[in-house]
This record gives sequence, C-alpha cells and structure tokens, in this order.
Amino acid sequence: MAAIWPKNSWYVAFWSEDIKDRDLHPRRILDEPIVFYRTESGEIVALEDTCPHRLAPLSLGKAKDGDRIACAYHGLEFDRTGTCVFNPHTDHKIPPAAKVRSYQVTEKYSLVWVWMGAGTGDPGEIPDYSCLDDARPEHISTRNYMTIKADYRLIVDNLLDLSHVPFLHAGVLTGTVNDDVNVTQDGDTVTIARWSYDVPVPSLTNMMFRNDGKNVDSWLLMHWRPPSYMILDTGVREPGTPKESGTGYFGLHLLTPESEQSTHYHFGAVRFTVPPRPLEEDLKIRETISVGRKYAFEAQDAPVIEAQQARMNEVGNRRLALLEVDAGAVRVQRVLAKLVAEEQTGAAPERTPAHVR
Ligand code: FES
Ligand SMILES: [Fe+2]
Repeated sequence: MAAIWPKNSWYVAFWSEDIKDRDLHPRRILDEPIVFYRTESGEIVALEDTCPHRLAPLSLGKAKDGDRIACAYHGLEFDRTGTCVFNPHTDHKIPPAAKVRSYQVTEKYSLVWVWMGAGTGDPGEIPDYSCLDDARPEHISTRNYMTIKADYRLIVDNLLDLSHVPFLHAGVLTGTVNDDVNVTQDGDTVTIARWSYDVPVPSLTNMMFRNDGKNVDSWLLMHWRPPSYMILDTGVREPGTPKESGTGYFGLHLLTPESEQSTHYHFGAVRFTVPPRPLEEDLKIRETISVGRKYAFEAQDAPVIEAQQARMNEVGNRRLALLEVDAGAVRVQRVLAKLVAEEQTGAAPERTPAHVR
C-alpha cells in the first residue's frame, strides 16, 4: 500500500513528563514499533522494539546499568546505539546480527521528538512550540494525549475546518458559520483565518479578557505545517482595535500516525497577552480551558472522526461534495500528497521554514 505520511520528519512521541524514571515505553509510530526509555543520566533513547534474537518486544524487558536495556526473554542486553553488548549465555558470543535500529530522538518544548527518516534529522527543523517553555505554569493547560482510531489526515481536516465548531462543539467551543474566512499559503505552510467582528463575547474569552460582557472581535487562525504540526491562535479584542490589544490562547495540536488508521494526538493550550489577574482566577481559567478542550476533542471530535473512518472503509473512494469551507483542507492534502510522492520518487523535498507561524 502506498505510504500516506512523509518519513523524513520529526514526529512527537510523548510529552517529556510521560517518560519517567527508567520505565520502558512502547509506542508504534508510522507503523514501526519503538521502545523509549531514559538512561541512568536521564537522556531519552529510542530503539526498534523487536529483539533480533527471537523477535520478542524489547519493551517487555527492563532497564539496566547506564544506557542498557535487557530483553525479557533470554536476557540479551542492548545499549543506546541498539548494539547487543551482553549475552548472558555460556559462550557469551554476540552474533553480528544482534543489533536493532536506534532512532534519533530529542527533547524540545516539553515534548519527545523522534526522527523517522533516513540519515540525520536537524532538530532546528522542529517547529516553534516555545510558548510551552516560556509561559507561566498557570497559563498552560493540562498536557493531554489520546489516540484516535483514524487516518491522521482526517484529524488534520477536522482541525483545519473549524466551521464544524458551532455544530459539533455548540456550547463548548466558540465559532460561528458567518466568519470572514481567508486561506493563505506560504511555501508549505497553510493558514486558515476566521474572523468575526463586533459579536457577543463568548463566555470563556469574556472571563479571559475584560469580564464585562461587551461585544468583541474574535479570531481563529489555524496554522498548519507538514506533516501534522498545528497551532491555533485564537482570541478576542475590543472591536476595531489592534489584535495585540486582545487576549487569547495558542491551541497546540500534534498528530503522529500510529498506523494507517490510528493516530497519536498530543494537545495543549498556552495563553498569550494575559491581563493581570489574581492567581486563583488564572487557575480557574486554566481548568476551564483544559476541561473544555479535552471534552471537545475526546467526546465530540474523536467519535465523529472514528465513525467517519469506519464509513470510509465501507464505501471506499467516492467523490465528495466539497464546500467552500474545505478550501484550506484541500490545499493541505495536496501539499502532503506532494511531499509523500517526492519521498517515494527520491526527489529532494523542498525544506519548509522552521517556524509554523
Ligand atoms: S528474544 Fe530477546 S533475548 Fe531472546
Ligand atoms: Fe473539533
């Protein structure tokens, strides 16, 4: 089957805080089983999760001294390079084939990133999620993770097309069908901007902004960069004033294909231009953002996307009745298809800028 994802890319594997102590953490990424763990000195290692002896998953084993892990089945030990460095059995010989792939891995912005391509990835190409490092803790929502049983491209479509918000997320998230919508493309980066002018203030942003219930201009700017890095810049301002005078949050969406029909989804939100407030109010706002977004994605988006995937499997390819609101999603799928095709034909892909916004 033809690939549906570019391989020459960094993908998010975990939130950093989820790789604790010396536990072994299996995770399938682009349909490759990988085991992640920390060395004794705390660095992350990512190895192919298949023992070369009898193919037992290495993640069933345990961490050993230094940077080693030992297979649970017959005790072969591997170091961070994936080389077998110890055979506990009688002759202690190590066969040349006793080696697994070691993936390049790095921690940045409280996330663990793995390079899935050939050669060496440049960590400088990881998109800018520095707001996760720079913001005060009370301005960062809970770091969340879930899997959705669907092709990651359906989730990209869902996030790009925020015209679904007033339907699927009515009363939970903010959005209207009458927004002023504008799609722009800069290289391989696509932005879909939705603005509403002089409209009633939504309750969450009212609480975040002036708490006076007066009308606002509101915006939803979704930025996408290949393969599946997304940042939503959303907020409100006093009507007619500069955007910088308002407040809002960055909604962070990081999608990593687990397999062709399953996706790891890491998400969070970081407030920007936060007006001074007592800490208790900021903590309350953080709780509201965390709970609302988690509910919207887990209880509202995921079931629809999974049901959509199931129906697509039933009906196969069929011409879709696309709407004007699908323009951005169509562009993004074209860029993705181009990148995947370039990789498969060996054409050098054009590099995209390092910053998603
Ligand atoms: S299967 Fe791993 S040591 Fe035998
Ligand atoms: Fe949604």
